[in-house]
Amino acid sequence: MLSAKEVLSKDRVGKKVEVRGWIYRTRSSGGIVFAVLRDATGIVQVTIKKGNVPEDQFAAATKAGIESSVIIAGEVAEDKRAPGGYEIRASKFLVVGDSEAFPITEYQSTELLLDLRHLWIRSREQTAISRIKASLLRGAREWYHENDYVEVTPPIITGVAPEGSTTLFQVKYYDRIVYLSQSAQFYLESLIYSLERVWALTPSFRAEKSRTPRHLSEYWHMEMEAAWVDNEGNMKVQEELVTAMVRNALKECPDEFKLLKRDIRSLKKIEPPFERMSYDEAMEYLQKKGHEISWGSDLGAVEERTLTIDREIPLFVVNYPKELKPFYMKENPDDPRTYKNSDLLAPEGFGEIIGGSERETDNALIMERLKEKCEDTKSYEWYLDLRKYGSVPHSGFGLGMERIVTWVCKLDHIRDATPYPRTVARVYP
Ligand code: 4AD
Ligand code: MG
Repeated sequence: MLSAKEVLSKDRVGKKVEVRGWIYRTRSSGGIVFAVLRDATGIVQVTIKKGNVPEDQFAAATKAGIESSVIIAGEVAEDKRAPGGYEIRASKFLVVGDSEAFPITEYQSTELLLDLRHLWIRSREQTAISRIKASLLRGAREWYHENDYVEVTPPIITGVAPEGSTTLFQVKYYDRIVYLSQSAQFYLESLIYSLERVWALTPSFRAEKSRTPRHLSEYWHMEMEAAWVDNEGNMKVQEELVTAMVRNALKECPDEFKLLKRDIRSLKKIEPPFERMSYDEAMEYLQKKGHEISWGSDLGAVEERTLTIDREIPLFVVNYPKELKPFYMKENPDDPRTYKNSDLLAPEGFGEIIGGSERETDNALIMERLKEKCEDTKSYEWYLDLRKYGSVPHSGFGLGMERIVTWVCKLDHIRDATPYPRTVARVYP
């Protein structure tokens, strides 16, 4: 048994091969059926000629609709008109699973494709995106491993809200209400006292009521935390990690980028160091570009777009005003109105893919901020303990996997960066 990709080679010409997969396209004229077979590796054309296969198999080939699963044997021939330049001239055509009239045809509304997501994920675009996502993940895993980070498994059910209580999903947990995790950060922080460098890939949940092309209610969050690392060291990790991820995808997925028509010239230029721009400088730049904002305004999608649209390399924005960020960040001694933190913005207009910071180690400051935010300090007692027993400077960050996929694949909407997007309006299928 060969894969579609393996068939497409000069060495196969004249040889007998067997393939299996799903019918991607089919048409028949007179005594000949032209079918295109799709498998996990790609597509290959098959011609089934009356007389070259048993009569019942020819009849089955004529009838077999799109998405029927089939096993086909035949001889490989060169054919310039076929996708990939080769085709199989069939001597055997077996239907494994019939397909009813496939509900997805060429022009479909976005809504219908979302309703039929369980079938639409068979599309070649979605397949390419899944492969690129896996390749980015593999690049990250290898980088972490080479740099002595230990992969850990934090809980998803939790009583803490690192990113503020407004976006929490509540779940009934026996006779109590608890939350779905927004971030594993606090648990990762607790693990650095033994392992020093840790990372985790977990689902994170955000009840984001606004519908935007970059927010999901559930996303895959890749987080890291390290002892003895300051904010600058934290940014070095981010630029190395992102570079390793992108390079791995470029190496493993050239065909997938081609299929998505993603121009990879700019991705090839990515290497450390990434430029650092202070929040103050970002404000100045945005004001010059005509944005009506002032010190203390948050940077939303529109502002991040202006900051990155003409860039090919990601950009760090550092030292945000305290009001804009969560309570756990370390005060910036050079300007105590701000934190020692960074957001990493992807270029080409995409914006934030990572949020990170050095962590506050002063429990009195943490308590003060929690009270200001009217948080129930009881749930954070264990978190404060971490500063009581051998506290160390430490930093970490969270990278949104679907955000980086959206940028790397240059997608219009984050929902295509995951097989089953969860949004305000949708939990089906
Ligand atoms: O900036 P955020 O909220 O930071 C944290 O959660 C920190 N506790 C992480 C840490 O330091 N360990 O989220 C981190 C990243 C964002 O930069 C973004 O890429 C992604 O998570 N993200 C989302 N992705 C998709 N949909 C959403 N609703 C997202 N919210 C955040
Ligand atoms: Mg953020």
